[in-house]
Amino acid sequence: MHWDVLREGSVPIGLHEELAALLRAAYPHFPEFFQGRRSWSYVRPELRVIGWDDGRPVATAGVLRRFIDVEGTDQLAGVVGLVSVHPSCRRSGVGLALMREVRAALLGLDVPFGLLMCAPRHVAFYERAGWSLLSSRRVRYSPDDTTEPEQFVDEIATTTMVVRAAATDDAEWPEGAMDWNGASV
Ligand SMILES: CC(C)(COP(=O)(O)OP(=O)(O)OC[C@H]1O[C@@H](n2cnc3c(N)ncnc32)[C@H](O)[C@@H]1OP(=O)(O)O)[C@@H](O)C(=O)NCCC(=O)NCCS
Repeated sequence: MHWDVLREGSVPIGLHEELAALLRAAYPHFPEFFQGRRSWSYVRPELRVIGWDDGRPVATAGVLRRFIDVEGTDQLAGVVGLVSVHPSCRRSGVGLALMREVRAALLGLDVPFGLLMCAPRHVAFYERAGWSLLSSRRVRYSPDDTTEPEQFVDEIATTTMVVRAAATDDAEWPEGAMDWNGASV
């Protein structure tokens, strides 16, 4: 396998089509997304990590820099989403390799933290990749930034995860309610 990191403006149209096919295979329970060449879900990322095997993309993730409002203070983060490995390649370490590449991409974007929200069943995977589960806290985010404006979700989130981008930096993600002022990737 080999890995690429592409800024969004460098992704050729044909690759969007291939990524959409990979995402459809990875997220069969979200048939409303990833139709045709649409290779994003709730908001479009600014950078893609792509793992290639035999000339086709089999793993991918998206990253978008965003300031999260933590009780009035803007905290910069690289929001990570679209994390996926083709079903034919799972449980053989490709997902962990993908997350290593994501960590390197976060460093390249010069953000102090990676941030994501996930389903409870994926917490163990992200912890294996070095991410930490934040304690439960109030979170406000838009459910989808791609169509009509929608009411923001305002909930106590139990599966928000962070990773420090640089191993040398020992700052912790700040405590307190988080307002995304937008959607997750
Ligand atoms: C989550 C996903 C990316 C993992 O990819 P993968 O290549 O299978 O991951 P790896 O083989 O590197 O797994 C490493 C470890 O993570 C954990 N892990 C991986 N998938 C897991 C799962 N579905 N449930 C619980 N733990 C899991 C295991 O500890 C695994 O080690 P093990 O195989 O020795 O038990 C992949 O299952 C996927 O694409 N899922 C569909 C898309 C999705 O839901 N993405 C997450 C969005 S939040």
